[in-house]
Amino acid sequence: MDKFEELKLKAKEEAEKITSLKIIGDVKAKFIGKNGEITALLRGMKDVPAEMRAAFGKQVNDLKEKVSAIFEKKESELKAAETEMKFQKEAVDITLPGKLPEIGSLHPLNIVKNKIIDAFTGMGFEIFEGPEIDTDYYCFQALNIPKDHPARDMQDTFYINDNVLLRPHTSPGQVRTMENKKPPIKILSPGRVYRADDDASHSPMFHQIEGLVVDKGVSLCDLKGLLDEFVKVIFDKDTKTRFRPSYFPFTEPSVEVDVSCCKCGGKGCSLCKNTGWIEILGAGVVNKKVLEMSGIDSDVYSGLAFGLGIERITMIKYGISDIRTLFENNVSFLKQFNRR
Ligand code: PHE
Repeated sequence: MDKFEELKLKAKEEAEKITSLKIIGDVKAKFIGKNGEITALLRGMKDVPAEMRAAFGKQVNDLKEKVSAIFEKKESELKAAETEMKFQKEAVDITLPGKLPEIGSLHPLNIVKNKIIDAFTGMGFEIFEGPEIDTDYYCFQALNIPKDHPARDMQDTFYINDNVLLRPHTSPGQVRTMENKKPPIKILSPGRVYRADDDASHSPMFHQIEGLVVDKGVSLCDLKGLLDEFVKVIFDKDTKTRFRPSYFPFTEPSVEVDVSCCKCGGKGCSLCKNTGWIEILGAGVVNKKVLEMSGIDSDVYSGLAFGLGIERITMIKYGISDIRTLFENNVSFLKQFNRR
């Protein structure tokens, strides 16, 4: 009996010492394996006197079960510890801030272009885009700028040949629209234009947006109201507009439109050259001759047109002093417009 108790204690002690699942099988075998000590006891049954054999057998089997249970318990403890360790190793700190991916942003010219388009489409304008390479007829003649007219000096045009050129303004969009659409017309024509000009405020390629309205009874008054509303959306609601008489062959009367300086509010500063006003676009009532040339009855219909430079408005809005910064694609410059 002492021997049984001793074996049980020994198994307990040895099980206690085990720290790895790998060796548990070997240690267990020392007791209940084929050549284990307890198995040996069972084998020795034949030497036990017959009358004690049954009791002895039961004791040995009890012992075997108990020892087996000791090792099973140890095994599940070790397995649990191992799983726990694995979890700890794989743990992720979900409280760490994530890494934000670098995302692009719209170019300032596109931001302003979209704003302008939004302002006018909100007033019912549709978008029409014309070709960048166009003919002398659409760029000049149909706009009442005949060959040798002095107004052609206003734009230093890139000619491809005598008749084909890179459009120097988006105004040919007026003609192409009127030829293809019956009034009422209310279109906005954004796009690239080209002029042989290159300094801090001029670029050989820049962007314009043309606006054209043709309907019955359209007047300079409508132009004023329309542009006043537009200016308030693009700058702010306190911005004022001023019309100055001007000259364009395709509008009569023609005006140049100024806005109250968005930097000083009209008091006078370096941006507005102390005048309190900044010129933003050219406009006017569509010349009757232009309507007629495009097949619109000028006794029934009248029109208004305006043309603005996106670069110019972007520069005024964001205080950019050199137009070239808009085309250099310097990432530090462009990142300032990322509104994240
Ligand atoms: N096309 C003119 C320019 O480029 C602007 C303009 C458009 C003026 C429409 C009047 C009407 O300067």
